[in-house]
Amino acid sequence: MSSTSSSRFDLGDHVQDQDLSEEYLTSSSRDYSAGSSPLTTPALSDNEFDFDVPSENVLAEEGSIRLAPADGSEKYIMVIGGLGYIGSHTTLELLREGHNVIVVDNLSNSYKTVLKNVKMLAAHHCKVNNVAMPRLRFFRIDYRSKAMSSLLERYSKPVMAVDATSGRQVVSYQSQIAGVIHFAAYKSVIESIAQPLRYYRNNVCGLVNLLQELERFNIRNFIFSSSATVYGSKANAGKPLKEEDLVHHQVKTQNEAGETTIVEPTIEGLSCPYARTKYFGEAILADVAEADPDWRIVALRYFNPVGCDPSGVLGESPRGEPTNLFPVLTQVLKGDRSNLNVFGSDWPTRDGTAIRDFIHVLDVARGHIAALNWNSKKGNGFSTFNLGSGTGTTVLEAVRSLEQAAGREIPLSLVDRRPGDVGTCVASTERAAKELGWTTRESITKCAADLWNYVSKVALRS
Ligand code: UD1
Repeated sequence: MSSTSSSRFDLGDHVQDQDLSEEYLTSSSRDYSAGSSPLTTPALSDNEFDFDVPSENVLAEEGSIRLAPADGSEKYIMVIGGLGYIGSHTTLELLREGHNVIVVDNLSNSYKTVLKNVKMLAAHHCKVNNVAMPRLRFFRIDYRSKAMSSLLERYSKPVMAVDATSGRQVVSYQSQIAGVIHFAAYKSVIESIAQPLRYYRNNVCGLVNLLQELERFNIRNFIFSSSATVYGSKANAGKPLKEEDLVHHQVKTQNEAGETTIVEPTIEGLSCPYARTKYFGEAILADVAEADPDWRIVALRYFNPVGCDPSGVLGESPRGEPTNLFPVLTQVLKGDRSNLNVFGSDWPTRDGTAIRDFIHVLDVARGHIAALNWNSKKGNGFSTFNLGSGTGTTVLEAVRSLEQAAGREIPLSLVDRRPGDVGTCVASTERAAKELGWTTRESITKCAADLWNYVSKVALRS
């Protein structure tokens, strides 16, 4: 349980005016998954930073931009994995909504140019709307490294507090970080089957260590990237998946007839290590919140995020071979792959291909902001929300929408089902609509149009 602060002492303002700059701790960018110990990473210190790409260049392109003031007391949202596909769109939406953002990313599955593009789009938004540009800070560090601790310390002020159990005065922290969104996890089903320990080490051990660090700095407002994959084979029941279809502790809920029922935690058919890492992550978070009611934790269960910002500047650009449907389709459209293998045409669906709940990535990003706002005002313990549209689209229908957007045919081969796939996976959207006041705005047609816009612009740029 956290203690309450009584008095405060100041160790001086250790936050320098480096906003909108990119800060690199190069030694921490090594790949810990390869076996080297994160404990060897040197602590973060001012002279270890390597400043890059002066932000003024970006701002100059946009004309005069007013920067939100910073006096060391301003609040930030920390986005871990903030340059990945969903992370970068969320960072952008946070900035557009006026939040100061600290991005932590080791660039293991993203690129530095993404930061520049996010800055540019946010600056453009601020200019058009005549509002001050929020602070954006970037740290190229592995969130599992020791540098993370130094970074959290940098944004914290020590305060004297009374320990709730012993009644003694202890040193505690007051952080400028008002909330953390944690995206930094591995997400390939196939890779997780081949390298389970790598997945457990990052997605599970990494999460546990991060939570310990956050607790130390009294940061207990946490948004976790979960996935519809936690429903496992329950998806195949053919009904929209409700959050109470997977709970971690016994809960009382009301059924459709308005009667109170007790739901027990049961899991069914988690098909791969990736799915289990997400399940374990949620279970750990539920236990942490149960033990300490000061935690406010939301797990967002993503269905199938696709599309990109309509500017065509920001998209999904993973390193390595993509395996998800839309990134593979992007490769086909760009000519990097000859055709799409459609995995399974014998599912019990309207055209035999699997049904998914595709959701525009900007809707997903807005879902995070809705969850943050909800968590700050009403959050209590551990909560789960589906981020889905509630509409099922078959793989072939998704392909057709992209064909329409691109005005050309996409070559297909119908092949066997992919191991671990489910036939149907669609969200119930009721809880997110009622509690968060969040629903999707965009359709699959808009997802396809935005993706094609991105693909054609990338083709023009290269
Ligand atoms: C799954 C999870 C999702 C998770 C994601 C991470 C479920 C229901 N969903 O998404 O929560 O975030 O993994 O990777 O478990 N397809 C093809 N050809 C391809 C690629 C995909 O036909 O080349 C098909 C798949 O078989 C599937 C559909 O397209 O039926 C969507 O696949 P994909 O984009 O990989 O996402 P999911 O597997 O649904």
